[in-house]
Parts: sequence; C-alpha cells; structure tokens
Amino acid sequence: MKADLREEIIEAIDIVDYIGEAVNLRRRGVNFVGLCPFHQEKTPSFTVSPEKKIFKCFGCGKSGNVITFAIEYYGLTYHEALKELAKRAGIRYEPLTEKAKEELTKRDRILQALEYAKKYYQKVLYTQSGNVALAYLANRGYTKATIAEFEIGYAPSGWDNLLKELTSAGFSKEILLEAGLIKQKEHSPNEFYDLFRERIMFPIYNHSGKVVGFGGRILKEVENQPKYLNSPQTDLFDKSKLLFGLFKGRNEIRAKESVILVEGYADVIALHQAGFKNAIASCGTSLTEEQLNQIARYCKTIYIAYDGDEAGQKATERAIQLALPLGFEVLIVKLIENEDPDSIVKKYGAKAFHNLLDNAKSFLQYLYELAQSKSILTRPAQKSKFIHYCLHLISTIPDKLQHIEFVQELADLLSLPYSQLETLLKEKSKLEKEKVESAENIAKPDFSINITKQELELEEEQLISICLEFPEAFDLLKIKKFHSEHMITENGKLLFSILENHYGKDILNNILIDPEVPQEKKDYFVNLVLSKEKLSERWEKFGFDREEKDTGKILEDVYTKFNVKKIDLTVKELRKKMVEDPANQEQYLKKMQEELRRKQKLLNFLRR
Ligand code: GTP
Ligand code: MN
Repeated sequence: MKADLREEIIEAIDIVDYIGEAVNLRRRGVNFVGLCPFHQEKTPSFTVSPEKKIFKCFGCGKSGNVITFAIEYYGLTYHEALKELAKRAGIRYEPLTEKAKEELTKRDRILQALEYAKKYYQKVLYTQSGNVALAYLANRGYTKATIAEFEIGYAPSGWDNLLKELTSAGFSKEILLEAGLIKQKEHSPNEFYDLFRERIMFPIYNHSGKVVGFGGRILKEVENQPKYLNSPQTDLFDKSKLLFGLFKGRNEIRAKESVILVEGYADVIALHQAGFKNAIASCGTSLTEEQLNQIARYCKTIYIAYDGDEAGQKATERAIQLALPLGFEVLIVKLIENEDPDSIVKKYGAKAFHNLLDNAKSFLQYLYELAQSKSILTRPAQKSKFIHYCLHLISTIPDKLQHIEFVQELADLLSLPYSQLETLLKEKSKLEKEKVESAENIAKPDFSINITKQELELEEEQLISICLEFPEAFDLLKIKKFHSEHMITENGKLLFSILENHYGKDILNNILIDPEVPQEKKDYFVNLVLSKEKLSERWEKFGFDREEKDTGKILEDVYTKFNVKKIDLTVKELRKKMVEDPANQEQYLKKMQEELRRKQKLLNFLRR
C-alpha cells in the first residue's frame, strides 16, 4: 500500500464532515465535540480537530483519523476503509502489486467459501437430515430467533456433502483446504473429505463480522470423538485472537461497559438469549493477552464466569494475571456448584444469573476465599506466600491509586495492619522495577499514558512534542545531526525513531495510518498533540512565553534543556563510578569537570 494514497485520503476528506455523519458535532473553539460513539457518555468528550485531522475521546481514550474511524466505527477492514474513503474523495484506488492483489483475492475467496458453507449448514438444519439437530437445539432451549441470530447450522453425515456442494459452486479444493473445511485423505493425496460431519455448526466471526471458522458440536457424546471440533488454525482463523460473541455483542459491551467471560460457546449463546448480550468466550483455548487487547477496545471491566472446577480455577487465575496489568477491573462470578452459565439461566432463570453478577467478587476476595477453602491461611509459610502473591498482583495494576485500595482490602481480609502490607508492596515494586530496568525492557503495551510518560524524561517529551507540532523543528534537529539514539531512555529512543520513520508533511497522520505502529504509541502521540490544555498553556508550563511564536527559539531552548538534563545524568553516573572505582577517581573527576563546564555554557545560553 502506497503511503501517498492514505495521505491523499486524509488530506482530501473533511474529518468533521465525515465523522459528523455518525456523530452530532458542535464547534468548541478550534475543535468540534460530540458524544463519543465508542463508549457510553452523557457529556461530550469526543473531540475532532479539523486542523490536525484527527479525533480523540477524552473519556475512553480512543483516537485516530478518518481511516481509523471507518475501521472502528463502521467495522470495515483496512482495505474496505481505503476503498470507500478513496471513492468519497474521488481518488482512484488500486490495491497495488499483483502479488498483493492475488493474496487479497485468495483471502476473499476463502472468506466467500466460509460464508457459503455457513449458509449451507444453515439450510441443512431445516431439511430432513437436520431434524435430529434441530430437535437437539430445541431440547437445549434455543429459540428459533437465537438459532437464526447465531446462524447455527448442521453438518450432515456423509463424507463429502460440503465438498460437492462447494466445488459445484465453483470453489477450488485448494481454497476449501485453506478454509479448513475439507481434509486430505492420508493415503491418497488427491482425495479429500469434509472435516465436519454430523455436528451442530457454530460460525465464529472475526472483529469485522466475517465468518472465519466454525466450532462443531457432536450431537451425542461418544468416546474417541472430541465433543467440539474447531476449524484448524490459520492466519484467518487464529484462535489466540478470536473471541466468540465479541462481534455480536460489541454494542452491548460498549453500553454496559463490561464483558462476561465464560468457557463455552453454549454459555455465550444461552446468556445472549437470556439478555446478557455482553457474554463472550475464547474458542476452547486459554485466554491470551491478544484477546484482552481486543476486549480493551470496547470496555475496561471483565466479569469472569468460569466453572468452579480445578480447570476453571486455573483459567480464572490466568485471566486475573493477564488482565490486571492491562488496567482491567476484574470481577469474579461464583457460579452454582456443578452448573455452568448455560445451565444456570435455563434452570434458575436470568434473574438468578443477574444476582450472581451483582455478587461478583474482587480478585482479592476471590483468591482469599479460594485460599481459605484450601486451608492455606492457617499455615504460616503458605500464608506468607499467599500474601506475597496478592501483593505482586496488586503491584501489576497500572493505576497506582488502586494500589492503596487493594492493599487496604487485603489488610481487611487478613486482619493485618495496612502499614505492614504497604511496606511489603513498596519493597516489591522497587525490586520489580530494578528487574525490569536491568532487562532493559522497553515499555510493555499499556493503556495508561501515564506509565509511558513516567518512562520518559520530561525533556524528551518536549522534544517529541515540538517535532510533532512543527516539522521545521524536526529539520533543525536534523541539521544538528540529532537522531533517536541521542534520546535518554529506551522509550524515548523508540518514540523518536517512530517520528523519524514517519517524517513528512503530516508526521502525526503518517504514524496513525501505519499498521505497524502499536496502538498505545499512537495514543501517546495523539495525546501529546491534542491534550486538553491548549498548546500555548503547555509551552507556558515548559517555561515559554504564552505568545512565543518563534519555532527556532523554542526548539533551541527545548534542545538546550534536554542537553542539560543529559549532562546531569552523566554527572550522576560519574559520581557513582568515583565511589565504585576509586582507583580511577582522577579520570572521572576530570570528565565531570568538563561536563559541568559544558552545562554552565548551556545555562548561560538559556539566560541570554
Ligand atoms: P455444552 O456441552 O454443549 O454445553 O458445551 P460447553 O460450551 O458448555 O462446553 P464445555 O464447557 O464442555 O467446554 C467449553 C469450551 O471448550 C467449548 O465451548 C469448546 O470451545 C471447548 N471444548 C470443549 N470440548 C472440546 C473438545 O473436545 N475439543 C476441543 N477442541 N474443544 C473443546
Ligand atoms: Mn455447557
């Protein structure tokens, strides 16, 4: 994909016009504001900047440009978004290279085959051979509407029903094989058979609502046959990224600002039918960070409603460990013994499940009760281990304010003094911070901009900020032969190298349209440019005159302050070395004096 097309689109389309078709926008100063379409709110915090050609919601943090908006709001794929926007802007759209085109058509073809198969399975459900399946579904309490909504179907018995149907519809065996719908016979490589036979078929959708695979449930459980058979893992059907129910429930998830995470497809469907349309499940694999990142696009609260058995407990713990560092609020739902959400709503009704949700526990309360049931807390060594584990979990929560709350909760649960636990937590945080630093870990994907900020020196942020704001500043730095390796922190180097790689007329939008740049970095840049405070106020905080207009002067000052900071850090380092390595003290001292002389010159310049 040529960058020019994306640049052209962003340049040509009036972002206020475009977003204005979906969101009621009002002018406020140089920007426009409206109610955020990505989360539920009563006062408008969704801001569109016609000048910067970007949007940002100060409520949920979502940000981007017209292309992002088309993808996120209208659920288009990247290519669909470009196609549509190009059309709108009257720009010719060509998907470029032959190879890219080929890949694209192949992918489309696979999607078409999956869509065709879905329709076929649906059709079969209502024929003679589907009778058993339909009766089974009815017996499980699924209504006609639910069956239609989830597009549930039936793969009949026989070895090649689907194969015949789809080949006569013009699909090649190669495509069907790649779609995971058929399999090659082991001893005759040119013969194929249907993967799914005599199974209830649940289509699984990707984030834009396309069928990318199936989960097939056996009608009667028999030995040596898996209860569920999923489509094989492919680029298109990547179980580590998909969540069953997420696409269907996305609007409800935004509205309720939470998801209910359950174990099975049947649970999701039963909960949807009972009115809990924010229920989702992974596809039989354990939860991944990737999936949590998907969830984070819609909400920040997760109810975990896994089974209470050993496997369910393990899965719950894993989910807690993964979700807390990503900033999620995690609540654990205690189910009725030997029941799953599906059987609960069926036996006891939606209201009963509602009550369970209302009584969901914090992760600490959950772990505490689990520990108690295992008699862990009566044994000092194990109790200590438990406390350290809980404190570790607390320390992974990005929002430090919550640490206080959770430490208090833990203290209450264990009847221990708050101060004692707090001291332990502080020690732990310090130890872990050192560990991370020594491993030279670059910022982990995080949702909290504050964290990124902390890993960045203020002076570095000022440099980045000015380069984003004024391309001339970037040119001036280039003349000074400044580049990303001259930044101070690892995160600073990374962020500046992103700027370098997207240098152009509109650096910010170049970054935003690059799928290679992680979302949290994009958010970081948008935040810098479109923060609530006005630019002039920000510069003022940096020590500049409110009316300062001369980019050159601002840059010189920012750059000088940056260099002063670097000298300060070098001097600090030299001091340390002098103590550690007294034999070479003289040498360090000399260097230190040199540095301090340089600093003095810079300070004189600033006072000019
Ligand atoms: P029902 O028995 O129909 O109520 O299904 P369930 O959704 O309650 O299934 P269960 O709790 O037994 O399993 C949870 C999830 O694990 C299922 O939805 C599947 O995704 C997956 N799963 C269960 N059994 C198998 C299996 O035999 N093979 C594979 N690959 N996945 C399975
Ligand atoms: Mn079940």
